[in-house]
Amino acid sequence: MTDPTPPRRIEVALPRDPYPVVVGRGVLDRLEDHLALPPGARNALVVTQAPVVDAGHVARVEAALRRAGLDVHREVVDDGEAAKQVEVLAGLWRAAAGVPMSRADVVVAVGGGVVGDLAGFLAATYNRGIAVVQVPTTLLAQVDAAIGGKTGINLAEGKNLVGAFHQPSAVVADVDVLASLPTRPFVEGLGEVVKYGLIRDPRILELLEARPDDVLARDPELLTELVARSAAVKAAVVAGDEREAGDRAHLNLGHTFGHAVESLTGYHDVLHGEAVAIGTVVALRLGLRLARTPTELVARAEAVLGRLGLPMRPPPLDRERVWEVMGRDKKAGPDGVRFVVLDGLAAPVVVTPDRADVDAAIDDAAA
Ligand SMILES: NC(=O)c1ccc[n+]([C@@H]2O[C@H](COP(=O)([O-])OP(=O)(O)OC[C@H]3O[C@@H](n4cnc5c(N)ncnc54)[C@H](O)[C@@H]3O)[C@@H](O)[C@H]2O)c1
Ligand SMILES: [Zn+2]
Repeated sequence: MTDPTPPRRIEVALPRDPYPVVVGRGVLDRLEDHLALPPGARNALVVTQAPVVDAGHVARVEAALRRAGLDVHREVVDDGEAAKQVEVLAGLWRAAAGVPMSRADVVVAVGGGVVGDLAGFLAATYNRGIAVVQVPTTLLAQVDAAIGGKTGINLAEGKNLVGAFHQPSAVVADVDVLASLPTRPFVEGLGEVVKYGLIRDPRILELLEARPDDVLARDPELLTELVARSAAVKAAVVAGDEREAGDRAHLNLGHTFGHAVESLTGYHDVLHGEAVAIGTVVALRLGLRLARTPTELVARAEAVLGRLGLPMRPPPLDRERVWEVMGRDKKAGPDGVRFVVLDGLAAPVVVTPDRADVDAAIDDAAA
């Protein structure tokens, strides 16, 4: 057997609490090397979901935690977005108190973005804040949700309405775990990967163009490169935002219209990354109309999205309601609804276009 490529280590360079994102094959089996445990840590509370347990990933994590000398406790929450609710969180608070977890102990989130957000918020709130290690197991969580410290739960009144910023002490992303993801959630995550290529790292786009079949076959070396590069973009933007307000907004390419699609289709018909792909096409067409995005770049980006099997056409939606949702969105400013468009590859810019131009761009994308 050849030696696997060594893991990639990306620093999230926050001035007060920097932390590493470790990406690679088999890194879960060396998780103990990356834990950055608080002094005196004795207990680890693993929060996860059944599919992640069934795929065997949780056992690997727990074995590593035991090798690090920790007592391991496991909480399996219901699967799906419904786990991000206050009743489930309350159950976790009580589980932590039952251990009992101390200030020096650690929460370990093993799962997708749902587990990451929920367990992150548990760690943010229990004992006024304890350490959390993020072990993302979906592509979306590895390139996005696990990095940046946003945690929280949903209310009936809206998604992610209650939460806190709580940076993890480490993020450990093993690309081998992506092999057990069903096709649709895997491909969905590629919607965000394409986004990182378009806003910041052309090499991502080149890799997706050159080897789409290897990407879809989940070639581990290629995934290591794509996840590491995507995570590096997110890490740079997250770390940079403290100094240079506004750069984080570039991560919203495809998200203004994408969120409207998700919201108006009830957050289940269209997955987040799929909605982002559709929203990216709208943003490309908008940039074209505004004479900002070159025709070749629109063609190139759309070809990649299509080749990877991402949806690209806006579903039929009531246009008034689309504007209602976009206007309510956090991305709306006093001067109107903001869109990220591309002045070129890796040249994102925030604009507040006229409604007529956006409507025409949505029509273009649907044509
Ligand atoms: N905090 C942030 O910055 C941020 C950013 C983006 C999204 N999010 C949040 O992330 C959530 C969506 O995350 P998601 O797309 O990862 O979905 P998810 O967490 O619901 O996971 C999708 C499904 O895959 C299963 N699963 C996870 N890993 C698996 C594996 N390796 N093999 C087999 N099955 C596996 C899960 O149990 C679940 O059924 C949303 O709640 C969203 O709000 C947060
Ligand atoms: Zn997103």
